[in-house]
Amino acid sequence: LQHFIVIGNPIAHSKSPEIHQQFAKQTQLQIEYNRQYCPDDAASFSAVVEAFFNGGGVGANVTVPFKQVAYQLCAEQGGLSAHAQVAGAVNTLLLKDGKLFGDNTDGQGLVNHLLQLGWPLQGAKVAILGAGGASRGVVLPLIEAGISELTIANRTLSKAEDLIDQLRAASPVIDNLAPTSSAIEALTGHYDVIINATSIGLSGDKLPLDSELSCHYTYDMMYGKELPFLTHFQQQGAQVSEGYGMLIGQAALSFEKWTGASVDPSLLLGSQ
Ligand code: ATR
Repeated sequence: LQHFIVIGNPIAHSKSPEIHQQFAKQTQLQIEYNRQYCPDDAASFSAVVEAFFNGGGVGANVTVPFKQVAYQLCAEQGGLSAHAQVAGAVNTLLLKDGKLFGDNTDGQGLVNHLLQLGWPLQGAKVAILGAGGASRGVVLPLIEAGISELTIANRTLSKAEDLIDQLRAASPVIDNLAPTSSAIEALTGHYDVIINATSIGLSGDKLPLDSELSCHYTYDMMYGKELPFLTHFQQQGAQVSEGYGMLIGQAALSFEKWTGASVDPSLLLGSQ
């Protein structure tokens, strides 16, 4: 029996235990996967992680608000994958040579979902809205998937510019692509794929999208009932999808890294 947890605050809503139990069923592995509440400070997070791995735990997922704290802890104690390094955030913890190692499967989980939907990324012209952690985490996997143009658009233009500078410094791959920045309302013309990585979510607010802005495919990294961002492009005839597939996708990659088994995330998605 292998033990896993997801650490967050709040954590009661997390769907990770159910998702991972389905992967365990697929691979015929016996696992225990629990939700782990943690007070919102770095010392508590560090203590929870230490106790879990000292107690024989195999792997932990990290969710809001601890992904950056987990990054710091891994940077100090063990190591980080390239994806975690560029993302500046860790969502997957494991032990490597007895030391704490941090990975980030969020961005690759998104890319895998887009490919599973049959959306072509090779040579694609892509715009990402938002310049926070969610946006930062998907840039490197998108570039590795072969996109050819990238614009990061944000409400606060200076934050998009800062993010691009940081990304370029973090990886030569990103520098080669020469991403550009934009204010959201100034983003216009046609894109192959537009991704909403802002936290505007279900707030009811609407992004100031230009009427001349269009795309073939639109993805909202949030998931939920009604996402005005998706409706905007759906009305123009674009194909749309939302972040539940990304949630499954990141979980599948974490499960595979922990257990060495391969899983099929599409079996959990039904018609989505
Ligand atoms: P996350 O880790 O989810 O990316 P974050 O780092 O707080 O969260 O970043 C939130 C992102 O959503 C930012 O890009 C933010 O824009 P600003 O940088 O201008 O703050 C964006 N965002 C949040 N609420 C928004 C709104 N009502 N309209 C437009 N953008 C919004």
